[in-house]
Amino acid sequence: MRLSFSSLAAAALVQHSLASTVCRTGQTVELDGIPYYLPATPVTTLHHNDFHGTFTKDNTLTPLTVITANGSSYGGSDLANTIASYKADDDVFSEGFLEAIYVQYIGFKPRGHDWKAASYSNATNGTAAVLHQQVEKSSVIPPGPYFISSTGAVYEAWRLYSDFAGAFTEPLLANGDGTYSVLPAGVSGQSLAVAVPSRLYFTKTADKPLAGVRLGIKDIYDIAGVKTSNGNRAWYHLYPAAEEHATPVKRLIEAGAVIIGKMKTSQFANGETATADWVDYHSPWNPRGDGLQDPSSSSAGPGAGAGSYSWLDITLGSDTGGSIRGPSQVQGLYGNRPSHDLVTLENTMPLAPELDTAGFLTLDPAIWMEAAKALYGKNITISRKYPKKIHNYDLPTNVTEPGDQLFVDFLSKVSSFLGAKVQDFDVDEAWNSSRPNSTQSSLDDLLNITYPILISQEQTRLVRDPFYEDYAKAHDGRRPFVDPAPLVRWAFGDSYPNNTVDIANANRTLFQSWWSNNVLVADNATCSDSLLFYVGSEASVNYRNQYLDSPRVPFGFSISRVSPFWGGPDFVIPLGSAEYFSNITLHNEVLPVTVDIMAARGCDGMIFGLVQDLVKAGIIKPSVAGYDNVDGGQILFRRGY
Ligand SMILES: *[C@@H]1O[C@H](CO)[C@@H](O)[C@H](O)[C@H]1NC(C)=O
Ligand SMILES: *[C@@H]1O[C@H](CO)[C@@H](O)[C@H](O)[C@H]1NC(C)=O
Ligand SMILES: *[C@@H]1O[C@H](CO)[C@@H](O)[C@H](O)[C@H]1NC(C)=O
Ligand SMILES: *[C@@H]1O[C@H](CO)[C@@H](O)[C@H](O)[C@H]1NC(C)=O
Ligand SMILES: *[C@@H]1O[C@H](CO)[C@@H](O)[C@H](O)[C@H]1NC(C)=O
Ligand SMILES: *[C@@H]1O[C@H](CO)[C@@H](O)[C@H](O)[C@H]1NC(C)=O
Ligand SMILES: *[C@@H]1O[C@H](CO)[C@@H](O)[C@H](O)[C@H]1NC(C)=O
Ligand SMILES: *[C@@H]1O[C@H](CO)[C@@H](O)[C@H](O)[C@H]1NC(C)=O
Ligand SMILES: *[C@@H]1O[C@H](CO)[C@@H](O)[C@H](O)[C@H]1NC(C)=O
Ligand SMILES: *[C@@H]1O[C@H](CO)[C@@H](O)[C@H](O)[C@H]1NC(C)=O
Ligand SMILES: *[C@@H]1O[C@H](CO)[C@@H](O)[C@H](O)[C@H]1NC(C)=O
Ligand SMILES: *[C@@H]1O[C@H](CO)[C@@H](O)[C@H](O)[C@H]1NC(C)=O
Repeated sequence: MRLSFSSLAAAALVQHSLASTVCRTGQTVELDGIPYYLPATPVTTLHHNDFHGTFTKDNTLTPLTVITANGSSYGGSDLANTIASYKADDDVFSEGFLEAIYVQYIGFKPRGHDWKAASYSNATNGTAAVLHQQVEKSSVIPPGPYFISSTGAVYEAWRLYSDFAGAFTEPLLANGDGTYSVLPAGVSGQSLAVAVPSRLYFTKTADKPLAGVRLGIKDIYDIAGVKTSNGNRAWYHLYPAAEEHATPVKRLIEAGAVIIGKMKTSQFANGETATADWVDYHSPWNPRGDGLQDPSSSSAGPGAGAGSYSWLDITLGSDTGGSIRGPSQVQGLYGNRPSHDLVTLENTMPLAPELDTAGFLTLDPAIWMEAAKALYGKNITISRKYPKKIHNYDLPTNVTEPGDQLFVDFLSKVSSFLGAKVQDFDVDEAWNSSRPNSTQSSLDDLLNITYPILISQEQTRLVRDPFYEDYAKAHDGRRPFVDPAPLVRWAFGDSYPNNTVDIANANRTLFQSWWSNNVLVADNATCSDSLLFYVGSEASVNYRNQYLDSPRVPFGFSISRVSPFWGGPDFVIPLGSAEYFSNITLHNEVLPVTVDIMAARGCDGMIFGLVQDLVKAGIIKPSVAGYDNVDGGQILFRRGY
């Protein structure tokens, strides 16, 4: 017994030592108190004579600023300008990197110039060494901040930020072979660390319009090399890492975007409200106002992250029944539910394929459009001829609530910008007067259970049933834990015959053809004959410290169900913010005010064009990260540190 035990142990030990490999996963350093991550593999090793001896004083790392000089007369004032632009354009670069400067010349190195540090003495403070050499175009490294080792190995500098809003599930790094790994680093701040590369490493080109754009991905999209959770812990641990990227992820990587992490989704992309619904994972934190407002869902991580972090450029969410629009509205972001089917959704968790869409949440309307062009390709066309008719669904025309003035101004400025007529729109009245002869139903009757039937009967078939089966097989017949919200919805689907989904689709398509023939109608000249505006959010409170009733089935028809049923675009545009009295802080705070814009199906590019023109005309502005989506400011729960 003893012998067999010890020989087993010895065998295990031998096998282990034979099989073990040490895998370098990079290192972390601090420079002037700021944490950085350095990937394991250097971008290059510098062997120039000048470097010999410069960095060998001890076995350490020296901060290094890399500059590319193309001309024969690159001198001290050029250097000063370059450094000033590095400081202005990049959050990773800092004064500390000027300890050593490496100037790489393309083409001929000029004669008769003193290249020693003296010629640059005006440009920097405390630079210990200025190195320079002529390099072939092929061995030029991107400019920006680096660290150089005593053997000349040059490492990229990735700045580490704290995900204090709890918006990420796993921060990621590209492995260089098309797959990704989890970032092996941490920082203080009571959550994960996320690493971002210097913006100076990247140049946008026609081929790589998103070069260097920092992107977070909702954790329902597969990324090769890492696991997907769909917001469920049992799922995360049951299935292996993905082998292929989801199609939207692939498109964005091809366009040059830098994926910095996976972001939280409410479970299986069903709606969940903070806090009790979020059993498996904690809901992310909405940064706006008192910091205690629900971030909405299901793209809760993408919404909270985009609203909290100026270092995060854009996030990929999904919208089945409001999952991009809700988080965009309450966090004051640009967010698009696109026309249905602009990009296919392989390797993406479905809720209901006939309703599921992939879109973005971001502070920046310009990056938003560029990312959409990369994601949807030829399926969108940016256009700049606009309809002359606006359906006003519910924007106030008189000021009674804080925030009303923003809608009144928006409506008047946009209608005069377009030369458009504004008409009040009542969807029930329109339906009563032009509904198809084949139905006598009101919209409330026709569409009351359509959405919950579609999402529950599709998701139980496509996701739940195979999941339960796989889990039972792996765990002796056991059932995995699932949060209350998806369970309530799935149970509703089970309570109807499984072909009710066909009736739901028949009702949906009846509505779809009515809407596209009577309300937002395709137009050859302006894409859509009209626009439709409705209130997205108006400083609306939804405190996360309330005890709510159990989650319910999402019955009913409302304006936000229109785009899912009819398949057209519904974009959220931030207009500003308005005051409310917080019963947490006992103080007036502000929350976002947003408008939703719809146009005919397939007119996504026209809305993107309009948004750019409205920005140019000063009618709308980029949103800002932090306490207030207009003025920024430190988030309340972080004040004091
Ligand atoms: C160097 O590059 C700058 C900026 O791209 C350009 O304006 C300048 O003309 C170039 N100089 C030479 C000598 O190529
Ligand atoms: C350094 O600054 C002085 C005074 O501002 C200026 O005259 C000189 O040309 C500068 N030198 C270089 C190398 O830029
Ligand atoms: C050098 O340091 C001084 C004082 O901190 C600062 O005002 C100046 O801008 C610095 N110069 C450069 C070129 O960074
Ligand atoms: C355009 O949409 C169609 C239908 O969904 C899809 O098959 C195709 O891949 C899309 N094209 C691009 C460039 O995304
Ligand atoms: C709103 O204002 C308009 C004039 O701007 C006025 O005619 C109308 O009665 C007002 N409506 C309400 C509900 O106060
Ligand atoms: C639409 O018609 C229904 C009866 O079919 C009626 O109850 C309802 O008030 C009408 N709604 C509008 C806004 O006309
Ligand atoms: C409904 O029927 C009436 C007469 O029966 C006809 O005039 C009308 O065009 C029909 N409407 C639709 C939407 O088919
Ligand atoms: C919608 O359906 C639910 C469940 O059948 C029902 O309780 C509710 O009253 C319905 N609402 C409307 C407006 O028909
Ligand atoms: C379809 O519409 C009918 C009314 O025409 C309604 O009674 C039924 O509940 C709807 N069913 C679904 C699944 O949408
Ligand atoms: C619907 O239920 C029937 C009977 O239980 C079953 O045979 C059929 O495969 C189910 N269809 C779908 C699409 O799940
Ligand atoms: C729109 O253009 C198409 C093709 O160019 C044409 O067949 C159609 O008649 C036009 N429709 C209108 C309303 O002008
Ligand atoms: C704060 O306000 C919300 C919404 O008005 C309410 O549900 C909640 O009970 C209030 N909390 C306290 C502590 O008053």
